[in-house]
Amino acid sequence: MRIDILTVVPDLLEGPFSHSILQRAHEKGLAEVHVHNIRDYSTDKHKNVDDYQYGGGAGMVMAIQPIADCIEKLQKERDYDEVIYMTPDGEVYEQSRANQLSLHKNLILLCGHYKGVDERIRERFITMEISIGSYVLSGGELAAAVVADSIIRLIPGVLNNETSALTDSFQDGLLSPPVYTRPAEYKGMKVPEVLLSGNFKKIEDYREQEALKRTRQRRPDLFKGTENQTTK
Ligand code: ADE
Repeated sequence: MRIDILTVVPDLLEGPFSHSILQRAHEKGLAEVHVHNIRDYSTDKHKNVDDYQYGGGAGMVMAIQPIADCIEKLQKERDYDEVIYMTPDGEVYEQSRANQLSLHKNLILLCGHYKGVDERIRERFITMEISIGSYVLSGGELAAAVVADSIIRLIPGVLNNETSALTDSFQDGLLSPPVYTRPAEYKGMKVPEVLLSGNFKKIEDYREQEALKRTRQRRPDLFKGTENQTTK
């Protein structure tokens, strides 16, 4: 998979993609992330990428020319499955969308800044708009890093343990059960006996019940589809 991220602050994206899982994905040739500085595409003599709003009002708007040129250049080089605009007024991002996007080959993520991009960019190029939550960030970069991370870790071979992405919270519509590691007792706090029993059937049942309980308590909205199941 290839992800191209378009931004006016490329420095903000250096950290997230040069570490751990994402770096390993790159080294294994499973995913590559290319960050493009929109300013490099500006034909303006001062390399400006934003301008005042028509009609007046506070805040600058990202201009059409540099973004359009950058997207058109990329689209000439390869076909993109989606051109995604990161924006607080997009569809709220969920695991199901990450799963779907992880099956694609080439994606563009456009990061907004200031008041956002000229609406004609959205009309002409954007095929999907994503918000990572009901709050406003100072730009789309952190949101793009979140989306790219959540997609890349799903690509088979990226995680060491092939099954671990499948047992994440949300993958079966439920939150994950609690987990423990050594020691079996810490200052009087004990690991649940069943997890030490070696009885895999009992352990599986316990985890399922705990996942149901946790989902019911913390995210009843996720629980809707599993209402006929009971917790102990
Ligand atoms: N840009 C600013 N806020 C955002 C959000 N919540 N999600 C995606 N992009 C954004």
